[in-house]
Amino acid sequence: MNIDVILGLQWGDEGKGKIVDVLTPDYDIVTRFQGGPNAGHTLEFQGKKYILRSIPSGIFQGGKINIIGNGVVLDPALFKAEVEALEASGHILTEQLYISRKAHLILPTHRLLDLAYETQKGSGKIGTTGKGIGPAYTDKTGRNGLRIGDIENNFELKYSKAIARHKELLKQMSFEADLESLEKEWMEGIECLRRFRFIDSEHFINKELKNGKKILAEGAQGTMLDIDFGSYPFVTSSNTVCAGACTGLGAAPSKIGNVYGIFKAYCTRVGSGPFPTELNDETGQKIRDLGCEYGSVTGRPRRCGWIDLVALRYAIMINGVTHLIMTKSDVLDTFDTIKVCIAYQIQGKEILDFPFEIDDSVKPVYVELPGWKMNMTKMQSESEFPQKFNDYLSFLEEKLGVKIRIVSVGPDREETIERR
Ligand code: GDP
Ligand code: IMO
Ligand code: MG
Repeated sequence: MNIDVILGLQWGDEGKGKIVDVLTPDYDIVTRFQGGPNAGHTLEFQGKKYILRSIPSGIFQGGKINIIGNGVVLDPALFKAEVEALEASGHILTEQLYISRKAHLILPTHRLLDLAYETQKGSGKIGTTGKGIGPAYTDKTGRNGLRIGDIENNFELKYSKAIARHKELLKQMSFEADLESLEKEWMEGIECLRRFRFIDSEHFINKELKNGKKILAEGAQGTMLDIDFGSYPFVTSSNTVCAGACTGLGAAPSKIGNVYGIFKAYCTRVGSGPFPTELNDETGQKIRDLGCEYGSVTGRPRRCGWIDLVALRYAIMINGVTHLIMTKSDVLDTFDTIKVCIAYQIQGKEILDFPFEIDDSVKPVYVELPGWKMNMTKMQSESEFPQKFNDYLSFLEEKLGVKIRIVSVGPDREETIERR
């Protein structure tokens, strides 16, 4: 059996959580492979809404095993809050959720360092989620990190050494903060973690593949936030692309099966960094209002703009996307016309390949398509799609070279339409 991967093709928040939940019944195991609580994956069903940060989005489809893979960075305090919120709503997770011993811990000081580095950058700040993601991955690659498996062995000593190092760094930056209360919360999180099963997930996953089990790997963030291929330096600190599923799970490239790439019918971004199709006008505000485009983790208004096929083609190439999934098309239901960026103009030249750097000289080249002007949220099958919507899909497929297999027409699990 193979591992199918599902990941975001834009700057995050494409609707990964919703789609993972919809696809989970076809799988035995769902697993996160990178990122941490910077993610906010929203699921809606039976009139309820849930936001997952570190726990995979397969957790609500009864009886499936969910794994937090080795590529993830985990904050015990936020994990505890997430677990408690789910338990309060009647979802007991201990039998269903396993955690890789090789996943790294986000220490309370990582959050402070995140804040300190952002403050230091001033107007050039990344606009991070402030969850300590960058500093935790920095410690991982700098070989100073603490892992879940360390909790089982001589933990206090390892922890105090790491914290002492961080305190010194914070002192050098003249950054003062109340570490005590953060540490207390964090240690309670460690106790919560101890209730769960720690596994050598690379062995577990490969054995389960041999046993014929079907595995779905859930990406966080999006391709344009990838540490290597995103709009550097305005990116996150992990590989959000398909290759990240190999390193973040211990899965050989030959084990990767379908690659589901998710994109919105338009485009959003949170935090700083280039966004060629951004709309700082009333159309952008209309998309924000209709799409409820406010961060699920930080509540920050998301920047909104038209769909960008230059960036999408690039993301499809890097990930080897085999199936496309388009979400939030309903947000455009009332628009008279819809713009699609098909190329960039840079110093008078039209370019189709995503460039090394994007500055203010990059201008989107648009094609304007007629809107379908019809409420699609209650539609049940593709046979009900208006012709103009089908034309929009065909236009995208022709430009992207991959078929759009699923269209999401609302936030609820049920508001999902498969295309043959
Ligand atoms: P993720 O991080 O990729 O899982 O996405 P988020 O949960 O951060 O953001 C997507 C938002 O759009 C959430 O509020 C979802 O409930 C919502 N959503 C997902 N699919 C659709 C859709 O097709 N239509 C609408 N209107 N909302 C959607
Ligand atoms: P999901 O999984 C959207 C953005 C931040 C910031 C940059 C770096 O819900 O799609 P970080 O805290 O990772 O160091 O921030 O990345 N970012 C996201 N934007 N969705 C996310 O996750 C994001 N996770 C990080 O806004 O610009
Ligand atoms: Mg999100």
